[in-house]
Amino acid sequence: MSTKELVLDYLMHESFGTAVSGEFLAENFHVSRTAVWKAVNALRNDGIQIAGTPNGGYLLCDTDMLSEQIFKKEICSEQNDFPPEKIHFFTQIDSTNSYAKELLSKKNPLELNGTIILAESQTAGRGRLGRTFYSPEKNGIYLSIIYSPKEGISNPAKITAFSAVAVTRTLKKLYGVEVGIKWVNDIFAGGKKICGILTEGITNFETGRIDAAVIGIGINMKASSELPPEVIGIAGDIESYAKNTDITRSCLATNVALAVMDIFDEDYYSVMAEYKKSSILIGKQVTVHPIIGDDKSTYPATVIDIDENAALIVRLEDGCIKHLSSGEVSLHSDLQKADVLREDH
Ligand code: BTN
Repeated sequence: MSTKELVLDYLMHESFGTAVSGEFLAENFHVSRTAVWKAVNALRNDGIQIAGTPNGGYLLCDTDMLSEQIFKKEICSEQNDFPPEKIHFFTQIDSTNSYAKELLSKKNPLELNGTIILAESQTAGRGRLGRTFYSPEKNGIYLSIIYSPKEGISNPAKITAFSAVAVTRTLKKLYGVEVGIKWVNDIFAGGKKICGILTEGITNFETGRIDAAVIGIGINMKASSELPPEVIGIAGDIESYAKNTDITRSCLATNVALAVMDIFDEDYYSVMAEYKKSSILIGKQVTVHPIIGDDKSTYPATVIDIDENAALIVRLEDGCIKHLSSGEVSLHSDLQKADVLREDH
């Protein structure tokens, strides 16, 4: 490890919350005080906030900051053994999904398998069905993962459903919060959407095969006072419902990314059973929107199940059964409120 990495590691873990002197760090790492001073300055130049205390100590200020070093430190730790060259970090980017697709247009998808693009904020975050995804700094994490197995992707619905299960598991584990999946892959807590996932496929036109998937995940961690009008009342944040709010953004990003990459090796039917179990829609009355933007095409239905291809099974008012593999459904707002009450008690 370089002196810079050693100093950051010490400030993040050993002396967390208390100032430590340059002299002590120099002795500890068997380097000169000038080397420590240079390391601290280099970290500050990278945007890491380190305060200098009057008695010559150094203190890490923003313990929840998302920086390339802090994220790499977490995800590339000995335990995780993740290759640092597969990480692309941005303080600000238009969209991590767009960047991932750009990478895939230039390089062999197989070489990019497992690549993570993480950003502190996005200026043109994209959601499903052509919507925008509000992605301000400090409130959430925005990441894309490239998944490109040798055999290609034969079941895109699997990618979408598995990613939702991986994120759900991670949020439950880290925050101790009850979260559910609203088909296809929105994650809800307390009746509010706290995470959106956009999965995009890269098709090889010569072979007709899907060579890669870009799994884009946006998680609202903290409440935002500046929500755009179209998501007020719909969007929430995980910390408002969490039992544990000490999770740092790099810890969340690391756990989500690793969980998503690992889940694809798991048994298909068990993960699909978990997907179904986490669904917040089964038994609910919904409005089906088969064509987004065309209000005339909507119809009411009751959700009765989810099939093994992640299609939503609904019963129409005339008793007819439909398997929906695309489109969107909205919960009736009174039922959404009922969800909140049920989870609160
Ligand atoms: C949705 O709610 O419709 C899906 C939202 C997906 C947002 C994430 S944030 C990271 C990645 N980059 C994007 O532009 N979108 C996804």
